[in-house]
Amino acid sequence: MMQSFTYYTPTKVVFGRGAEAQAGMLAKEFGAHKVLVHFGGQSARSSGLLGRVTASLREAGLGVVELGGVVPNPRLSLVRRGIELCKNEGVDFLLAVGGGSVIDSAKAIGYGLANEGDVWDFYDHLRDPEACMPIGCVLTIAAAGSEMSNSSVITNEEGWLKRGCNTDYCRPRFAVMNPELTMTLPAYQTACGCTDIMMHTMERYLGRGGSMALTDRFAVQLVRTVMESALVLRDDPQNYDARAEVMWASSLSHNGLTGCGSGAGDWASHQLEHELGGMFDVAHGAGLAAVWGSWARYVLDAGPARFVSLLGGLFELPKAGDDTAKALAGIEMMEGFFRSIGMPASLHELGISPTEEQIQEMGQKSCWNGRRLIGGMKRLTAEDACSIYRMAL
Ligand code: NZQ
Ligand code: ZN
Repeated sequence: MMQSFTYYTPTKVVFGRGAEAQAGMLAKEFGAHKVLVHFGGQSARSSGLLGRVTASLREAGLGVVELGGVVPNPRLSLVRRGIELCKNEGVDFLLAVGGGSVIDSAKAIGYGLANEGDVWDFYDHLRDPEACMPIGCVLTIAAAGSEMSNSSVITNEEGWLKRGCNTDYCRPRFAVMNPELTMTLPAYQTACGCTDIMMHTMERYLGRGGSMALTDRFAVQLVRTVMESALVLRDDPQNYDARAEVMWASSLSHNGLTGCGSGAGDWASHQLEHELGGMFDVAHGAGLAAVWGSWARYVLDAGPARFVSLLGGLFELPKAGDDTAKALAGIEMMEGFFRSIGMPASLHELGISPTEEQIQEMGQKSCWNGRRLIGGMKRLTAEDACSIYRMAL
């Protein structure tokens, strides 16, 4: 049955070759006077993108303050530095030049600037933010979907806790998307990105909330498009059209569109991955691929028909057998697809071997030490999470 929903996507998208030249005019349009340009390790600077973006801001008559150094699984300590810097400099707009990590770090700085008290409270779910400083972004990797999402995920080095905070306040005012900018990505990051994009729609599809034919069809075609494009990019990383398909899919997969009518989705694979990212600092997309198959087998009996409906749109499933048998075959095919683009289908293939003690710790943390259950297809306890980690070894 279809569920009621709210769909809110306030982000202005400027898409295509050379789009980053418009960053200055866009920031001005959304009220900026002094802009924090936030970026990562080295890719934005070495490609020359940073220079082009800051030039565009200055041409628009805007002040510029720079803060680089965001790492994948972005850290709370840099967020705190960013908040101080912006207060001292009188920054009134945040421009993220990078991927999910940079955008999420900018969102956290935005929360810290627009609310009193310690910003980590929002990620620790002790209280909710009431505002966020306006954010724009120039996207350099198609993956997390943060350029249109309501989400920000930050890692607190004290305890290595990776936690998300979701509100509509942090949705970017604008997103500049030039697919050419993603051509410098290492093959592994391209594949991680494609996996994450697929997963944002699969997580929404594989819940038990409800369904809507239009959304289901859209979801299947989105995942199919990303799979096809991922294979093209594996062999031809400079293919503009495939880069463009994946970049637009990144945004549509996580702005809410592929969940309209189907309820809250599952998200257990994401929660399981967040603990892997927090403890082992693995790339998000690869961590998702490593646990997905084990999660799927663990919860399959709660909704085999839903698995068949999704996987049957992506693969040629066997004609014989019941839904469970068909779904199991489809899960294996999905793991085969992950491997075909260089993604892992187990923790071993991901390159980590958590001890039993570490598994227990991740299981407890994923359920906030008993404060919540995770997942929608099946509601999972810390003990269930541990079982899935063990299956994924
Ligand atoms: O730091 P630099 O040098 O820029 O290198 C980055 C980084 O090492 C590199 N890169 C980015 N663009 C590049 C490039 N290298 C060459 N050319 C380019 N054009 O790629 C690496 C990964 O970047 P990152 O921003 O970490 O990737 P991604 O977009 O996958 O973001 C991952 C983070 O987002 C979170 C994840 O948990 C993870 O922390 N997520 C955020 C979500 C959201 N806010 O809605 C939803 C997701 O489910 C996810 O949890
Ligand atoms: Zn994700």
